[in-house]
Amino acid sequence: MCGIVAYLGHKQAYPILINGLKRLEYRGYDSAGVALMQENGISLYKCRGKVSELEDYCSDKNTTSTMGIAHTRWATHGEPNDQNAHPHLSEDGKLALIHNGIVENYLVLKQELISRGYKFKSNTDTEVLVHLIQDIYKSEQVTELAEAVRLALLNVVGTYAIAILSADNPDELIVAKKGSPLLIGIGKDDYFVASDGAPIVEYTKRVVYLEDEEVAVLNLNKKLEIKNINSEAKKRAYVQKLELNLEQLEKGGFEHYMLKEIFEQPKAISDSMRGRVNTKKDVVSLGGIIEYEEKMLNAKRFIIAACGTSWHAGLCGEYLFENLVRVPVEVEYASEFRYRNPIINEDDVLIAISQSGETADTIAAVELAKSKGATVIGICNVVGSTLSRLTHAGSYTHAGPEIGVASTKAFTAQVTVLALMALCLARKKGKLSLSKYHQIINDLENIPEKITEILKLNDSIKEIAKYCADKRNAIYLGRGINYPVALEGALKLKEISYIHAEGYPAAEMKHGPIALVDEEMPVIVIATEQETYEKVVSNIQEVIARKGKIISIVSEGDTQVKKMSDFCIEIPRTEELLTPLVASVPLQLLAYHVALLRGCDVDKPRNLAKSVSVE
Ligand code: G6P
Repeated sequence: MCGIVAYLGHKQAYPILINGLKRLEYRGYDSAGVALMQENGISLYKCRGKVSELEDYCSDKNTTSTMGIAHTRWATHGEPNDQNAHPHLSEDGKLALIHNGIVENYLVLKQELISRGYKFKSNTDTEVLVHLIQDIYKSEQVTELAEAVRLALLNVVGTYAIAILSADNPDELIVAKKGSPLLIGIGKDDYFVASDGAPIVEYTKRVVYLEDEEVAVLNLNKKLEIKNINSEAKKRAYVQKLELNLEQLEKGGFEHYMLKEIFEQPKAISDSMRGRVNTKKDVVSLGGIIEYEEKMLNAKRFIIAACGTSWHAGLCGEYLFENLVRVPVEVEYASEFRYRNPIINEDDVLIAISQSGETADTIAAVELAKSKGATVIGICNVVGSTLSRLTHAGSYTHAGPEIGVASTKAFTAQVTVLALMALCLARKKGKLSLSKYHQIINDLENIPEKITEILKLNDSIKEIAKYCADKRNAIYLGRGINYPVALEGALKLKEISYIHAEGYPAAEMKHGPIALVDEEMPVIVIATEQETYEKVVSNIQEVIARKGKIISIVSEGDTQVKKMSDFCIEIPRTEELLTPLVASVPLQLLAYHVALLRGCDVDKPRNLAKSVSVE
């Protein structure tokens, strides 16, 4: 949520900052801005809209500078407009600040600053910070800006990743973080700062992940200096290698990141399985959790906490774990879990699922479970993210960077890892026969090929999208492990096409949503070969009787549902527990084409952000 980039060195800062912001636009894109250190002080350019609009706005401005900070915003406090865009300046114009996070006690601080004569130009919580730092810098006779920043942050309740320019210290950039990600790239003779590695990767792979409540001073004439909020100096910054490639961040010939990521699923799933399945030895081994495997084998209960699409993957996990491992599973919205005083025992294992590894509510759920003595396992895509550093152990999904705001390949990779975890535990607990194990593993290994087949249906799905594009509503139905697929299909459609869509367990339809069904209502039914197939057939009949239009996803060779459908998508057969891996793909393509036909910005849907690092 909000992306920040900063540069200090000998190169021209502006192009580095703008390109960096474009790579971070998945974090927010309602306004953008840049502050540059120039001969006559700090120059500030900011405006409402996407980064490309900021670029247009700056096209006739002087952007010559070797030091600057830049921001792309996802509005929390104050509507998206020019004034609320970051950076924010101190009253004397000598400090410029960018911020990702939320200052929860901003109103109290703001009142205090107003009573001392400070005037505010924006409605943001961030502007409070810059005035507070200036106030402390001046009134408390603090000689170093970093010290004023530290003292100011002691007053802040909330989260922040900040970068500050100071006209009085033109060689110095100050950064700090708590609860929002920030990493420092160390170049040959320059520094880069960003919310993640994407803006940095083409310049350096040497990075320092700043820890919570640390303040760093970047100065080209001095060593990197890091202190914590209590003023204790860190002996040595831990320099790590950035695990990211430039090619992974490009569109690779596809019109949108989302389409590229849908098509990357065969590879993403193979990468999720690589080195983890050994058919000869009859084991699944997940290196990242080995040390905690005993705890997982002895768990009395699994709690899966996640948000959004990752929560849907969690629901698939519930079916996989309960069926194979035979241990109770509870799937929780992380945001609800953390606030309802949940019962957590030491023999519980909490599995936190997150693509970004930065989702604030998921992180909070992890901290809560840890504080109660539970074992916490992460399933995460972004290497080095907050979640991956906070959990006791975990498995990366290895899906590669996901940039389209609507999650696709991360979802199928998460389900793959959950299946592997369930298989690993089920075998070790003696709950799964060798023959069934072999059958599932074999099916899992064939999934990438099956998805490749489904991707060939892209053109026919485009035709179905034409029928849906002018509709106002849609219902998605599924049963068993296809119920979360229905939820995920509906989420995809509403996220990127803004058509209202509801996902429901097929049998529940008659308890409410059936009232919405008429000839204008597309009802998308996942009716693959499964235990409850006949029941789903009855649910389809109920829709047809009310003149609803059926779009079905069926197993190859199906005749019964096909005959009843207005549109039908046939997908390869697979083990029932693995159906989400195949059935979700046509639904992703359907949402993509509907959104495209409606003229929506597929990769940057309105009001959304990919990484939700605020509550
Ligand atoms: C946001 C994104 C969703 C994502 C959710 C959870 O809402 O737009 O696509 O599923 O956050 O994100 P996470 O990174 O924790 O999986």
